[in-house]
Amino acid sequence: MIVNRNILTLDEFTLQQLRAFPTATGELSSLLRDIGLAAKRVNVEVNKAGLVDILGDAGAVNVQGEDVKKLDIYANNQFMGVLKHGISCAGIGSEELDEVVVFDDEVSNNSKYVVLFDPLDGSGNIDVNVSIGTIFGVYRRVSEVGKPCIAADFLQAGNRQVAAGYIVYGSSTMLVYATKRGVNGFTLDPSIGEFSLSHPNIKCPPSGKIYSVNHGNFFQYEKNVQQYINACQKKDKTNGGPYTQRYIGSMVADVHRNLLKGGIFMYPGTIGKPNGKLRLQYECNPFAFITEIAGGKATDGKQRILDIVPTQLHQRSPLFIGSINMMNELEEYLKQA
Ligand code: AHG
Repeated sequence: MIVNRNILTLDEFTLQQLRAFPTATGELSSLLRDIGLAAKRVNVEVNKAGLVDILGDAGAVNVQGEDVKKLDIYANNQFMGVLKHGISCAGIGSEELDEVVVFDDEVSNNSKYVVLFDPLDGSGNIDVNVSIGTIFGVYRRVSEVGKPCIAADFLQAGNRQVAAGYIVYGSSTMLVYATKRGVNGFTLDPSIGEFSLSHPNIKCPPSGKIYSVNHGNFFQYEKNVQQYINACQKKDKTNGGPYTQRYIGSMVADVHRNLLKGGIFMYPGTIGKPNGKLRLQYECNPFAFITEIAGGKATDGKQRILDIVPTQLHQRSPLFIGSINMMNELEEYLKQA
């Protein structure tokens, strides 16, 4: 077999990026490698998810006599484990855990980053073999390095992320991450077990033809949002259409598709849930960071997602995100009285 040595692995790529910064310590590269490792482990289990009825359901006991964990708990433990044992992370916040986890050991206390993540987003889709994902955002701590990290490290506005990314466990498994230098995508090559650079320098097309929203909630949305959705349905050749509606119910897959093809994803507030469903810190912020670096835009309908200063670890936010021209058009509708 001929191996294409022009294709960089995730580790090779992050090390190359590191060389551009002579003063860099390598902690971020190391952190991304840790996340890549956890992603590979989760990928193995996600691929076996359909066998769960044969091998034993969650709550059952496996042949080693251990409890069979639910996949989202498994994913949480994998990401938390690699970050705890790595050299770059002082603590984590996770969708699966009520409180942040301060690692508080000598190596971790001397690490400069904290990570917020959703270990397995779209987990309702596991049973039916539909793409799911992991989302993460990396922040430089505001607390003193050398001491345990503190709550304030996890309540920073998204514009303070130094990196953010996601893994989509789909027909291929991909890891996409952004730093201020750009967005790059890596596809897992199962033959060598490495993420390989497949989508260098991702740019979100300024316009697209896809809109993604839960239409079932239509009458729960505010009038301006309804009007924009109606406008999407009325698009034709004369005004950039026709548009196509695509909504998987796994935001990782929905936003990933729109990022590559151009489109807009919306999870607006509803009458019953004015802040919508999605979590600010580990769902909206990482995608807002990635999308902005790729040339797109993300708001909560009133302000830039990345400028919201969180007050709670698990707070929710409406989300509108995608191609710049589509977002600008949406904002015209949202501005109307
Ligand atoms: P969950 O992890 O509980 O399955 O939630 C998935 C999230 C997000 O990924 C997706 O876009 C959204 O919830 C779908 O919610 P609705 O079913 O309400 O549209």
